[in-house]
Amino acid sequence: MSYKVLTPEEAAAVIENGENIGFSGFTAAGVPKAVPRAIAAKAKAEHEAGKPFKVNIFSGASTSASADGALAEADAIDQRTPYQSTPALRKNLNTSKTRYYDMHLSHTPQYMRYGHIPRVTTAIIEVAEITPEGEVTLTAGAGNTPTFCELADRIIVEVNAYHPKELKGMHDLMMPLDPPNRQPINITRPDERVGTITWKIDPAKVVGIVHTNEPDGIAPFKPNDPITDKIGANVVKFLEAELASGRIPEGFLPIQSGVGNIANAVLSALGDSKVIPDFQMYTEVIQDSVISLMDSGRCTFAGGCSLTVSDDMLAKMYKNLDFYKSKVILRPQELSNNPEIVRRLGLICINTAIEVDLCGQVNSTHFFGKQMMNGIGGSGDFARNGYLTIFTCPAAAKGGAISSIVPMVSHHDHTEHDVDIIVTEYGVADLRGKCPRDRAIELINKCAHPDYKEQLLQYLALTPEGHTPHNLTKAFEMHNKFIETGDMRNADFSA
Ligand code: COA
Repeated sequence: MSYKVLTPEEAAAVIENGENIGFSGFTAAGVPKAVPRAIAAKAKAEHEAGKPFKVNIFSGASTSASADGALAEADAIDQRTPYQSTPALRKNLNTSKTRYYDMHLSHTPQYMRYGHIPRVTTAIIEVAEITPEGEVTLTAGAGNTPTFCELADRIIVEVNAYHPKELKGMHDLMMPLDPPNRQPINITRPDERVGTITWKIDPAKVVGIVHTNEPDGIAPFKPNDPITDKIGANVVKFLEAELASGRIPEGFLPIQSGVGNIANAVLSALGDSKVIPDFQMYTEVIQDSVISLMDSGRCTFAGGCSLTVSDDMLAKMYKNLDFYKSKVILRPQELSNNPEIVRRLGLICINTAIEVDLCGQVNSTHFFGKQMMNGIGGSGDFARNGYLTIFTCPAAAKGGAISSIVPMVSHHDHTEHDVDIIVTEYGVADLRGKCPRDRAIELINKCAHPDYKEQLLQYLALTPEGHTPHNLTKAFEMHNKFIETGDMRNADFSA
């Protein structure tokens, strides 16, 4: 079959107000570019003509400036799930212009197939190649592309010449059957395959193809700073001690590492360890630091959902694609983040917290209970099922005016039952097997910023008896004092 070639504007013209759109990719990697921008332009024109125009966007994770960014700036997104991190969209959902449903990333495709969340009607996908029979080679992110293509009534295909056709072979694509017919997913090592290298879409659904030639536009991370370096060193020291004690097996276990600057710093520190053996990763996003660790031989294999690497790094990988194809597998997020596989492989899961409370509950998503940052992403998929679940964060934010260790988190993402270890630049709190009071003391002694230790001890002293040392009148005293005075250090825990 030969496909109709469309301009981005012609493709955008078929999108209707209120439509459910599924984007390929994961983070900015593999997300369509030209058609989302054209939909944003269409939305602006419709608004100027006094007509309503908003769409509902479903994706793998966050997208990019050309997708979420352009659409949010045009106020063209009504509902959004499962994750976002673009400033313009963050602003819209925190001002109630966009209705955002923050969900575990491994749940998205199956929840859509189950009918728990709306079904996409149009899939817009980026590919390196499409054959007349509808075999597509995906680009740098796998996301939810199989499910979106399966469920959509029509598919718009961006063929992005920036990505070589030789990417074929890097993916391992599979859509599990739904209960009661779900079968075991037989991944027993990060480099084991269970699916196909291309995905077959129905050519009859293809509205047309749009040709592009554009990188994902991913910027490099900020360079490590003394705090992220110290956090990285503390994680590594802890893991080295676990290895020495035999709690981590001699050959080590695969690593899952979250998104962001701290995650990047932790991975660099792991690479520098003289004690931790060369390791594999089974993770969600593969960031720049992972590729550097492959180059140095420290990371011997990485299975993930996307190559969320800077444009320069991806260009470098494409020059030596055969080498990286032997070291990387990209899978849809219901495989990369799958609880069954996470638990079977025994992953060491390292993610970032925004705040942690004295019981070890973690908030990864909100500021002061109501301001959404990004979303839970895959952190919950990994935290609940990991062999060892570690959360890292700087002990304080905003020049010390905010403590990351607080009496009670202002939003719950990971409960005390899912969190083993907390690491800040001051040390490592080992919460395993400890009752709430012992956890609180461990967190204050090992992780809290010195400016807040006394205060947190005073809070504990308010409730000398009972299993969990909370005082509901004062649990948010630090948050409230920041809102009132701009500094949590003004909290008053005098009885
Ligand atoms: N209250 C208010 N603001 C806080 C805060 C707190 N308790 N703690 C941190 N901040 C601010 C920081 O000051 C910073 O703001 P600034 O940029 O204006 O200085 C911002 O929050 C976070 O900084 P950033 O550099 O973006 O951090 P990061 O890159 O390390 O990301 C998370 C941290 C938590 C936002 C990020 O890891 C995330 O979205 N996690 C959830 C999803 C996830 O874990 N996915 C991985 C699963 S595989």
